[in-house]
Amino acid sequence: MDLPSKEYTMRTRCDSAASVPQLTNSPTVIVLVGLPARGKTYISKKLTRYLNWIGVPTKVFNLGQYRRDAVHTYKNFEFFRQDNEDAMRIRKACATNALKDIVIYFSKENGQVAVFDATNTTLERRVSIVSFAKERGYKVFFVESICDDPDIIAQNITEVKVNSPDYENCDKEEALADFLKRIECYKQSYVPLDDERDRNLSYIKIFNVGSRYLVNRVQDHIQSRIVYYLMNIHVTPRSIYLTRHGESELNLLGRIGGDSGLSSRGHNYARALGSYIIGQKIRDLKVWTSHMKRTIQTAEHLGVTYEQWKALNEIDAGVCEELTYEEIQEQHPEEFALRDQDKYRYRYPKGESYEDLVHRLEPVIMELERQENVLVVCHQAVMRCLLAYLLDKSSDELPYLKCPLHMVLKLTPVAYGCKVEHISLNIEAVNTHRERPVNVDVTRDPAEALKTIPVHF
Ligand SMILES: *[C@@H]1O[C@H](CO)[C@@H](O)[C@H](O)[C@H]1NC(C)=O
Ligand SMILES: *[C@@H]1O[C@H](CO)[C@@H](O)[C@H](O)[C@H]1NC(C)=O
Ligand SMILES: *[C@@H]1O[C@H](CO)[C@@H](O)[C@H](O)[C@H]1NC(C)=O
Repeated sequence: MDLPSKEYTMRTRCDSAASVPQLTNSPTVIVLVGLPARGKTYISKKLTRYLNWIGVPTKVFNLGQYRRDAVHTYKNFEFFRQDNEDAMRIRKACATNALKDIVIYFSKENGQVAVFDATNTTLERRVSIVSFAKERGYKVFFVESICDDPDIIAQNITEVKVNSPDYENCDKEEALADFLKRIECYKQSYVPLDDERDRNLSYIKIFNVGSRYLVNRVQDHIQSRIVYYLMNIHVTPRSIYLTRHGESELNLLGRIGGDSGLSSRGHNYARALGSYIIGQKIRDLKVWTSHMKRTIQTAEHLGVTYEQWKALNEIDAGVCEELTYEEIQEQHPEEFALRDQDKYRYRYPKGESYEDLVHRLEPVIMELERQENVLVVCHQAVMRCLLAYLLDKSSDELPYLKCPLHMVLKLTPVAYGCKVEHISLNIEAVNTHRERPVNVDVTRDPAEALKTIPVHF
């Protein structure tokens, strides 16, 4: 499972080969196909977030944004008429600029996957993208979203399009009407991917929000992961609740890792969590824990059935398990500094790195995508990884995300992102968050290394 990440990390470190397309490592252009309001932007953003999280550098190139940058004020659907020659010229120039930027992204910025979120649905356009990619040794994978359910389309338009910058000072009804006309403009030239004619292309067709899929000629590992991911996501409204276990005995002592039970405040939190969850009256809630005592004890107080995932276990701190930060500084000062230098990639001797943890958590994310309401009772490092995926945080930010004890984070997908609510259950707990100190040099003074450690008993 961690094959691509290794491949891509190496590439970042020796980027000399970046401009030479290599057979095993050639960049991929993912091209979205489909009429407006079929979730192309939604799919583009979500897929990009996932690929970045698993360590494949990916970026969206949204043609609508290029168009808005070129033409500052949008008047109405007339712009999208097939016989509007001026507009056609502008749209063509935008597509050309986007493709140029993709070349730069691959050759100069270590990009691996470019997601081309465009609406030009014509055959001619696809042929030109395929030849553009062929000339440069890129692979192309099409993602087509087909939807003929007018209710879904109308709902999509009201959810995201009416709030688009195009309709900033516009009445909602008017915006909806204009957008429907815009779709009609595209319909005149739209040619869906065709089983026969396009049989040599690599693609996935998604019908009516995933009620059916058609997959053709998957060329490599990354494309098969994309397909697998797209087949697992859904758009049913739901919430994901993330929390750490209640405060543990080792938390009290400022010791990391281990497998201790809850402190008495930890038990109080677990009970408070139970009442909070019952009060929320959540439909079909799934509860997941790790295999560690502190998450299981927390879930026991909820009085509901729960599932244990070994993949949710806390990061393995190897030789530093059960040590305090003071002891780590004393016994492994160099390791302590190296960790502060690159907390995401640093691997504890005989233990794991955050990067390892992300790979371990990938099946959890996939299952989280498949499920509806879920409460995950986990650990600090694990919660940071899950949160980074859900909130699209970079690997630099990830190890410093704030996930205090005795706090529930409720995440609800909205439009293209996630709404976050922080729910404190008002049970005291120790602080376990250690900021990155200013001095991260291996020769630093112990006092400087210990400057940011949280207080403990
Ligand atoms: C809009 O509709 C499509 C189905 O055609 C769906 O895949 C997509 O996720 C919907 N939602 C948004 C926010 O675009
Ligand atoms: C869109 O498709 C039309 C018709 O094939 C073509 O003339 C035009 O150049 C395309 N525009 C863009 C921006 O790709
Ligand atoms: C698909 O590729 C094969 C082999 O390269 C070629 O003979 C065939 O004409 C192509 N078919 C289409 C529909 O482009």
